[in-house]
Parts: sequence; structure tokens; C-alpha cells
Amino acid sequence: MSPSKELDEKYYMPAFGRDMEIVRGKGSYVWDSTGKKYLDLVAGIAVCNTGHCHPAVTGAICRQAQTLIHCSSLYYIPGQAEFAAKLSAASGLGKVFFGNFGAEANDGAIKLAIRSTGRHEFTSFEHDSHGRTVGSLACTHKPDIRVPFEPLGIPCTFIPYGAVEALKGCVTKKTTAVIFEPIQGETGVIIPPNDFFQESGTSAMRQVFS
Ligand SMILES: Cc1ncc(COP(=O)(O)O)c(C=O)c1O
Repeated sequence: MSPSKELDEKYYMPAFGRDMEIVRGKGSYVWDSTGKKYLDLVAGIAVCNTGHCHPAVTGAICRQAQTLIHCSSLYYIPGQAEFAAKLSAASGLGKVFFGNFGAEANDGAIKLAIRSTGRHEFTSFEHDSHGRTVGSLACTHKPDIRVPFEPLGIPCTFIPYGAVEALKGCVTKKTTAVIFEPIQGETGVIIPPNDFFQESGTSAMRQVFS
């Protein structure tokens, strides 16, 4: 076992089981601690979507770290609002919340949904995965990682992925939001039936707003 794996076992509190030690990346490739090269089809679970160590990205990170590394969200910082405006224009969404990771983004979305509807009940799908923080975990199906922490305070009903009829039966005037993966990732690359989201979106809307 490598020295860093030994330290890892002793001091690091793991969220996932893991084996390979990745030491370097460039473009679409990564190298492990034995020097073996891999085509990286994971890309940090879609985080490194410009490839590893893209010069424009590393340059921007280095420039920012040399200018101002952190000052909390208590202050305005140059570039943040400009970036939010670009994301807003690209996505069509009105405002942007900057988080550090996916589960935090989902927790923000869950809070926003509760605040804007005044409701507390959520619907998600069997085998969906939304993260490990308290809110996102409440909406994550995998029983062996969720059940030991229950009650999580956010009631969520799980229905079979792709089942429009089950969704129609589940979404009521008490439903805050339906949280879902457009393509399920953690349980495999599972694509729902054609038109599922179009059909289920309109039927769920009808259920809640009619
Ligand atoms: C669909 C989905 N949502 C949320 C998350 C949580 O993201 P993070 O691990 O960055 O908190 C994951 C993580 O794999 C995910 O696959």
C-alpha cells in the first residue's frame, strides 16, 4: 500500500469506497500512482468538462488565488455577478446560486421549493441519487445510505423511474417538487422512456394546479 493510501485509511473519513490513486491529469487522460494512463470517462462526475488542467481554467484559478483567495459571502467580489449574468443568459434562469458541490446545489433547490410553495413533501424516483447532505439524502433512494439517518425531516416518496401513471397518482396539491435525474447516473446510465419527462411534467402540473 502506498504511503498516502496508508494515511488515507488512518485519517480520512470516506464517503465512497475507492481503490485507484490518481496522481495527474491532462486533457481527457489521467495517470495512476503506478504510471498507468487511463482515458477518463468519469471527468470528476462531469465536473472536469473542459478536460484536466485546461490552460484557460488553471490560469484563471492561479490568477484568482494570487489576487484574493477568499473573503466570505459577506462582500461583493469582482467577477461574481458578471459570471452569474452569463450563466443566467445561458440557462434562461433568473438568478444563480453558487455552491461548492452537487448536494449543496440540491439542498438550495429543496429550500427554494419549500419557501416558494409553503409545502414540504417531495417526490423522487427509485434508484435516483441527489447527494449526501441531509436534504439531498432525504430525496436519494438508496436505502442503505439514507435509512440509517432517518428521520431526515423532508418526507419524500419514491416511485419507479419512468412510471408516468405512478407519478400522476403521487403528485398532489401537497407536493413541493419532483426531484429527478434526467439520466440516472449512480445506478448505471439509465435513460427513461421517450417523452417521459414531457408527459410526466404536464401531468404533474395538471395534478397540482388544476
Ligand atoms: C445526480 C447527482 N446529483 C447530486 C450529486 C451530488 O453531488 P456531489 O457529490 O458533488 O455533492 C451526485 C453525485 O454523484 C449526482 O450524481
